[in-house]
Amino acid sequence: MKGIEHDGRRILLVNLDGKLHAWDGTCTHEEADLSTGFLIGEEVTCPLHLSRFNLLTGEAVNPPAEKPLTKYNVKVENNEIFVELDQ
Ligand code: FES
Repeated sequence: MKGIEHDGRRILLVNLDGKLHAWDGTCTHEEADLSTGFLIGEEVTCPLHLSRFNLLTGEAVNPPAEKPLTKYNVKVENNEIFVELDQ
């Protein structure tokens, strides 16, 4: 799991079993940086109030967060990672 910032936007890049996923890296509860949280299995736990998000679906699976994370398309070409921010 790695946090990236681009144009003031946080992106959470996650490798789950060899497949890359890119999510908005800001918690939907009170804007904590999820890259400083904890990755366990397919879920990230927010470091601030411990909401958990499923990183296959983006769903908030544990309160206080209720809204899902925004997903970004990600691809790897020639060992470079590309994240499509505006979809
Ligand atoms: S900021 Fe993430 S759960 Fe509150």
